[in-house]
Amino acid sequence: MSRIEQDMRDITEVVNRRLDALLDETCEPGILMDAMSYSLKAGGKRLRPVLCMLSAAMFGEMHKALDVACAIEMIHTYSLIHDDLPSMDNDVLRRGKPTNHVVFGEAFALLAGDGLLNCAFEVLLNYAQKNRENKLDVISAMHIIVSASGTRGMIAGQSADLEFEGKDVDAQVLHYIHERKTAAMIKASVIAGAALFYANEADMKALCLYGDNLGLVFQIVDDILDETGDEKKLGKSTGKDKDAEKMTFSRVYGIRASQRIAKEKTDEAICALERFGKRANGLRTLADFMLERDK
Ligand code: IPE
Ligand code: IPE
Ligand code: MG
Ligand code: MG
Ligand code: MG
Repeated sequence: MSRIEQDMRDITEVVNRRLDALLDETCEPGILMDAMSYSLKAGGKRLRPVLCMLSAAMFGEMHKALDVACAIEMIHTYSLIHDDLPSMDNDVLRRGKPTNHVVFGEAFALLAGDGLLNCAFEVLLNYAQKNRENKLDVISAMHIIVSASGTRGMIAGQSADLEFEGKDVDAQVLHYIHERKTAAMIKASVIAGAALFYANEADMKALCLYGDNLGLVFQIVDDILDETGDEKKLGKSTGKDKDAEKMTFSRVYGIRASQRIAKEKTDEAICALERFGKRANGLRTLADFMLERDK
């Protein structure tokens, strides 16, 4: 196992344990909590919390970013539950399991998504309140996360993703969608970890560039894997984008060109980290790992 895989595994374990505790703190037992917990604990690469923690480790103590990282994963999981709904991508497999609405029905899947979003806010606000006296900028981290997941970020991207299904290929629209539906939250994960420790403007700028590129690469690879990937490894159905005529990189540029663009963007992401030297080794390796991933 490579060093980054080991780091990801270690961070994932800590994140998973904390997510359990946070769900207990913010939820009452019952079907709603069961539905939320089902998707949250179904696995997942935990890429966003890992990014947040690795970035935080460059500026302060990694563990202080744990609740922020968990809130991001809650928001991400909510977005997946809603993304899979029959009224959106209509998927039946996610994280290797039947999707939330298949198990709990559409109404509870909707509410489980809403619930996770709300819990994320509660987690962040609780953390901000606990850290009033501490030297942690939780409010800035929150601001970054809330705008990235909101109506100029992920939600806008998801909306355009649906709006442009079946429409003629359009590179500008493609970039608009991918920057928002996926890259926004990936970038937010990186910069929220740094903002928590008051990273300076130049460092934030470099991390934004890294996040923008990495986020785009992540969705390009997701688009490619929808055509070339293995359902078992991915834990989700493949071939769906083509059927729905989604505005994907593979549709607009073809697979080969998409792979080339993904490689170029990965190089740009890594280049943006130059000023950090060895401190950014984790983020550097993660970028390569994301490009090469098959799940
Ligand atoms: C899937 O994200 C949705 C996209 C933005 C492409 P991930 O591939 O990170 O999903 P999990 O969290 O590992 O299940
Ligand atoms: C989903 O993109 C992005 C978000 C959930 C915000 P996709 O629809 O391509 O993700 P998958 O392929 O279903 O995981
Ligand atoms: Mg979708
Ligand atoms: Mg989908
Ligand atoms: Mg996809």
